[in-house]
Amino acid sequence: LGATLAAGAAVGLAACSAGAPPLREVRQAGRPLAIPPLAPTRREGGRRVVELVAAPGESAFLDGVVTPTWGYGPMAFGGPTIRARRGEDVVVRVTNRLPGTTTTHWHGMTLPARMDGGPHQPIAPGATWEASWRIDQPAATLWYHPHPHGRTERHVHRGLTGLFLVDDDVPVDLPDRYGVDDVPVVLTDRSFAADGSFDESRRNAVGLLGDTVLVNGTVAPYLDVRTTRVRLRVLNASPARSYRIAVDAPTTLVGTDGGLLPSPREVPDVVLTPGERAEVVVQCSPGRRTVLRSLPHDLGAVNGVARAAGGDDTLDLLELRPAGRLERSPALPAVLSRETPLRERAGARTRRFVLSSNRINGLAMDMTRVDEVLEPGATEVWEFVNRHTLPHNLHVHDARMQVLGEPAWKDTVAVAPGTTVRALVRVGPYADPEVPYMLHCHLLRHEDDGMMLQFLVVAPGRRPAAITGHGHG
Ligand code: C2O
Ligand code: CU
Repeated sequence: LGATLAAGAAVGLAACSAGAPPLREVRQAGRPLAIPPLAPTRREGGRRVVELVAAPGESAFLDGVVTPTWGYGPMAFGGPTIRARRGEDVVVRVTNRLPGTTTTHWHGMTLPARMDGGPHQPIAPGATWEASWRIDQPAATLWYHPHPHGRTERHVHRGLTGLFLVDDDVPVDLPDRYGVDDVPVVLTDRSFAADGSFDESRRNAVGLLGDTVLVNGTVAPYLDVRTTRVRLRVLNASPARSYRIAVDAPTTLVGTDGGLLPSPREVPDVVLTPGERAEVVVQCSPGRRTVLRSLPHDLGAVNGVARAAGGDDTLDLLELRPAGRLERSPALPAVLSRETPLRERAGARTRRFVLSSNRINGLAMDMTRVDEVLEPGATEVWEFVNRHTLPHNLHVHDARMQVLGEPAWKDTVAVAPGTTVRALVRVGPYADPEVPYMLHCHLLRHEDDGMMLQFLVVAPGRRPAAITGHGHG
C-alpha cells in the first residue's frame, strides 16, 4: 500500500502546476468559534417551513482582509443549521440570488428523488424552489450544499454549505444544547489570493486544496466549554482535503454519517474524507485546554501533500477552553441506537462499481442515461473497486449503507487506491420511474469531471421512463 500511495502522490504532483499547499498556521489572534444560527422556522398547516436564500456577500476571515463569498442568508458564508425531528413534515424554500443556476441537495437524507436537489432540480437565478418531505430516518448529522452538474466544486468552495440535524422521535441522552454542549464543527480549507478572494487556481489531481482551515468559517478558533462533556458534530465540507482528526482528551465516537452507533466507542482518531461526518463526545477537565487537531494520515495522497516537501497536514483546528468549574454532564448511555444492522442475505443482488480516473465503470456522467435501476427498500451488496492510483470516495444519495462487518451507518465511504470496499446498501422507500438519484465521488472536482452515475428507484413491475436531463420539479 505504501508504494501505491507514493505513486498516487507522484501522480498528484505531476498533474498540478501550483502544487498542493500544506496546511499553515495563521498568525492572528484566536477568534471565538462561530456557531451557525439555527434556521428560523414557521409552522404552516402542521408543517415546519424554512426559507433559505443563496446569495453573494462578503466575509472577514483574516484580519483586515475582505473576501467575497457565497452563503445561505443571513450568512455570507455557510448556512444556518436546520434542525427537525423524525416524523415531521418539512418544507424548505430556496431562493437563488446568485449570478447563476444552482441546486440545493440534502446530503444523507432519505426522500423522494424530485426533492433531492441534485442536478435534475435546477434553481434559476431569481427563482424559488420548494422541497417538501417527511423526515423519516434515525437521528443523524446531515448537511446541504449545491449540486449543479459540472459546477458543484465552485459553488461549495465559495461557501454554500449548511448542516441539517435530524433528531430522533425517541431522544437519546447525549449532550444536545446547540452551540453549548452540542457543537457543529464544519471543516473546510481555502487559500487566499492577494486581493483577499478565495484562490480558485491551486488545484491538483484531487481538486481544490487550501492552506488555511476554516472551522464554521472561523480561522484559529476557540470554544469556551462549560460542561464536562461536549459533543462535536464534525463535517468535512472540504472540496478535496481529507483529515485525520484527534483530540488530546478522552474521545468517544457516537455517530457517523447516517446515524448513531449501537454503543459509544473510544477512538484515538477519526479519518474524514470530503462529505463524511463524525459525532464525537470529548471529556473535558476544568481549566485544562484541549485541542482538536489534524494529523497526517494514510490518505495523504488524497491531499497530494508530499511529506518530503515539508507538508504533513498537522495543525490545531479548534481549541476547547473549559471553564474552571464545569457543569456535570450525564454519563454516556451504554446503548445509543437499537436499529437493526443490515444483513447480507443469500441471493442479494450485487453491483460492482469500478473507479478509475473520473470514471465509474468506464463511464462519465450523462444526465440522460440511467445507469442502474433499483427496487425501493431493497438491501444490496455494492462493491467499490478502486483501480486508480488516487483515493476516491463514493457517496450514494437517498440510501443508507454499512460497510460489511462494521456497525457504522454511512452515506459516503472512502476507497483507498488498489482496494475494494464492500457495503450493504439499503435503498430508500420512494419510487419514481423518471427522476434519478446520484452516485458519485465526493471529491468535488472528480464529480464535476464526470465521476458520477444515476440510478432510478422503480417499483417492481413498473418500467423506468426515459429521462430528459432537464429540470424536474
Ligand atoms: Cu454531498 Cu451528491 O452530494
Ligand atoms: Cu474521486
